Amino acid sequence: MRLLVCGGAGFIGSTFARQRLLEHGDQVTVLDKLTYAGREENLADLAGEAGFGFIRGAIEDPEAVVGALTAARAEAIVNFAAETHVDRSIAEPDAFVKTHALGTYVLLEAAREHELPYLQVSTDEVYGSIEEGTFTEESPLRPSSPYSATKTGADLLVQSYFHTYGLPVLICRGSNNYGPYQYPEKLIPLMVLNALHGDRLPVYGDGMQVRNWIHATDFARAIGHVLEHGVPGEVYNAGGPDEEANIAVVRRIIELAGASESQIEHVTDRPGHDRRYSLSSAKVRALGWEPRVRFEEGLAETVAWYRDNAWWWEPIRSGEYRDYYARQYGRALGG
Ligand SMILES: NC(=O)c1ccc[n+]([C@@H]2O[C@H](COP(=O)([O-])OP(=O)(O)OC[C@H]3O[C@@H](n4cnc5c(N)ncnc54)[C@H](O)[C@@H]3O)[C@@H](O)[C@H]2O)c1
Repeated sequence: MRLLVCGGAGFIGSTFARQRLLEHGDQVTVLDKLTYAGREENLADLAGEAGFGFIRGAIEDPEAVVGALTAARAEAIVNFAAETHVDRSIAEPDAFVKTHALGTYVLLEAAREHELPYLQVSTDEVYGSIEEGTFTEESPLRPSSPYSATKTGADLLVQSYFHTYGLPVLICRGSNNYGPYQYPEKLIPLMVLNALHGDRLPVYGDGMQVRNWIHATDFARAIGHVLEHGVPGEVYNAGGPDEEANIAVVRRIIELAGASESQIEHVTDRPGHDRRYSLSSAKVRALGWEPRVRFEEGLAETVAWYRDNAWWWEPIRSGEYRDYYARQYGRALGG
């Protein structure tokens, strides 16, 4: 397949691009705006590969999208492009509205014009928080942050293009991802890098927020699987095999990184912080996908990757991320 992968310079998009190019022989053209979270370094190992292309551009820019579709001679669009950090959506929601609402609309129009299948990458956060049990694709949508609300809006727009125009769309909703190449504002890489540096480990509230962890390679495989085998118009959840409370994740990282529990610092909880996410993946499992990486081993490998790949995170820790961290946690990185 020749794929246009929007947002492919980010964490999961680059994992997907690598997998499709190297394991499936697909041709992959990435269209990415390169926001603070998008980095060409994430695709450095693919740069010389035949069948790989990179174009810098925004999904809300119709000219950039049509140019990329033409250059890619795309047979399908897979959209990862998003603003993805809930904390930033609370502080500055505007980019979330623009990318998720307008950007998704521009891509859908281009897919319609060029008669291309379209896959939207989405999140379990559209369902909101659940005390017990798991969400299925039929569960009501109850997003609680500007991030999840705008992602939900995008999902509904995608579904409307199936019902209204017959566009062959698919939606794949993942649970919390972890693995190499994740920007360090997110829980796991933030804690790993702080642990390795002897910095404090800021835990929101009591740390008892439970997440359903999925390795990014497993989520990327689920997306590829849905693209190949999914029924147009349908939504597929892809959740990881294990659930864990944030504080337990932090304690395990401390062990793996050889850090100390005294580095833990409980800080004021995020407003409207969802308590628990949990996804049923029965529908995508019925298509033949299942996760391969258990959290215990995946986390150990992830900590080792960050320890061994300072070339990747050093420029981040000395750049925009420093300012973000000081604003968000009220203390300088390293403090
Ligand atoms: N990280 C998770 O735990 C998780 C879980 C479930 C679903 N998702 C979804 O997966 C997708 C990818 O998430 P991620 O964690 O890789 O995010 P990320 O922040 O690492 O990457 C997002 C990418 O999108 C690009 N981008 C942002 N706005 C753009 C725009 N307007 N035009 C073009 N490119 C733009 C960025 O430059 C970046 O490369 C998102 O849609 C997210 O909602 C993420």
